[in-house]
Order: sequence, then structure tokens, then C-alpha cells
Amino acid sequence: MKTAILGATKGMGRSLARLMAERGDTICLLGRNGVDLERSATDLSVRGAFGTVVCVRCDLEEPGTFAGAIDAARESLGGLDAVIVTAGVFATQDELEADSELAERLLRVDFANTVLFCEAAKKALLSEGGGTLCAFSSVAGERGRKPIILYGAAKAGLTHYLEGLDHKHRENGLRVITVKPGFVKTSMTAGLEPPPFAGEPEGVARRVLRAIDRGTPVVYAPAIWALVMAVIRALPRAIMRRINF
Ligand SMILES: NC(=O)c1ccc[n+]([C@@H]2O[C@H](COP(=O)([O-])OP(=O)(O)OC[C@H]3O[C@@H](n4cnc5c(N)ncnc54)[C@H](OP(=O)(O)O)[C@@H]3O)[C@@H](O)[C@H]2O)c1
Repeated sequence: MKTAILGATKGMGRSLARLMAERGDTICLLGRNGVDLERSATDLSVRGAFGTVVCVRCDLEEPGTFAGAIDAARESLGGLDAVIVTAGVFATQDELEADSELAERLLRVDFANTVLFCEAAKKALLSEGGGTLCAFSSVAGERGRKPIILYGAAKAGLTHYLEGLDHKHRENGLRVITVKPGFVKTSMTAGLEPPPFAGEPEGVARRVLRAIDRGTPVVYAPAIWALVMAVIRALPRAIMRRINF
């Protein structure tokens, strides 16, 4: 599979890229830091990626570069079967409430710019006759929750966008996969107290790759979070207001 991945220098994206390399996929790494990209490319080549792993610079804070980066990925791969977006940023609700610039940046990166990147990816994939667009949202987008109001709002918007895209384009051959991780131990969550059911990036990556191969539209990872969020979705507002989840 010819795949472009934005956000594979760390965390779940890195684990997913490693799994894909180990089965011999052809990979183009998109990211903002050239040194990190080259280091990740070497790691993937050693793990068996088909041919040379290509690197293309793409910063989620620079929407003007998205179409060019995806075109460059497609050219270097000689086609495009899948685009995966794991890149994203996180900050706590307290940090975001204390710093309006940080809040503006997170809302832009995790919602508006991720959507714009997906729009560019969608166009490229449809021009190839279809393919898979997989983006990492979050269980944080399932309900308004006190500790993650702003981050959750950005992810809620992203989840809705991805669902609409899947409804509209499945019949055109574009499969849109929304990944909803629960708490996963990565650099993003370093320093936070892991809750029960916290996952490891390798396990999430295995689950996501299965969903990509099958075209499963929504994947909770680790799987237990589907159950946790079913309970949370069912809670009355009066209870949500009282708890600190
Ligand atoms: N970890 C969790 O518990 C959790 C839970 C729910 C959802 N998620 C979501 O899952 C996704 C992956 O999370 P993770 O935990 O694997 O995160 P991570 O370890 O922090 O990795 C994030 C990746 O995003 C890249 N990135 C950040 N800002 C970027 C930008 N402006 N342009 C390009 N790339 C950028 C980083 O690249 P650099 O190396 O350049 O920084 C890195 O490769 C994110 O969308 C996150 O919101 C995570």
C-alpha cells in the first residue's frame, strides 16, 4: 500500500508507520521537522518498508503547504492508496484557559487545519479513483466534559467532519476512517496520570491498521473505550455536571 502519514515521528503515528513498514508498505513521511523525519525514515527502512522511505515537509500550522505536500507525496510514491493524519496537539483545560493564544493555536491545528489537510488529501485520493483517509480524532469529542472542553470541542468538530466525508464519498471509493483513541501513553500524555484502561501505542496501531485494511469507519482504541464512552454518552447532563470526568 502506498501511504502518506502526517505525524509519524512520535507516538501512535510512529507505531502505525512501523507496522506498515514491517509488512512492506511504501511510505511517505510528512512532518514539520526535517531531522526527525530523516531519523524516522531510517528507522522504517531498517524495519522493511518497500523501497526508500520518502520525507516531505508539512506543518499543520501552514495550510498553504498542504496540497503541495500531498502532491509531492503522491509523486514520490508513484500513486497514493492511503493518507493517515495522526498529527495533533494537546494542552490541559487549565493551560488553555490561561493562554488564549495557545487555545487559538490548538483549535486551529486540531480542527480547522486538520480538516483543511483532509480536504487536500480527499481531492488527491479521489483523483486516484479512491483510497483510504484515516484521521485521529479522540473520545474527547464524544461529549462536553469539564477537564477537556476546548480540546474536546476541536475533536468533536473533526469527528463530525470525518463522518460527513465518509457518508458522501464511500460510494466514490473513498473510505474515511475516524480513530477515537482513549488515553494512550505517548509523548502527548507524558506527565499526566494514566487513568484505568490507558493503552500503549503499539496496541492502538495494530487495531487501527486492521480498521484501515477492512475499511471500518470508526475505531475506538484501546477497544474498551467503546464501552466506556457508551456509558458516558448515556449519562444524563445532571450527572455529567457533577462528575469530573
Ligand atoms: N495520546 C492520547 O492519549 C490521545 C488520546 C486521544 C486522541 N489522541 C490523538 O491522537 C493523535 C496522535 O497522538 P499521540 O499521542 O500519538 O501524539 P504525539 O506522541 O504527541 O505525536 C504527535 C505527532 O504530531 C506531530 N505534530 C504536532 N504538531 C504538528 C504540526 N504542527 N505539524 C506537523 N506535525 C505535527 C508531532 O510531530 P513533531 O515530532 O514535529 O512534534 C508528532 O509526530 C493526535 O491527534 C491526538 O490528539 C491522543
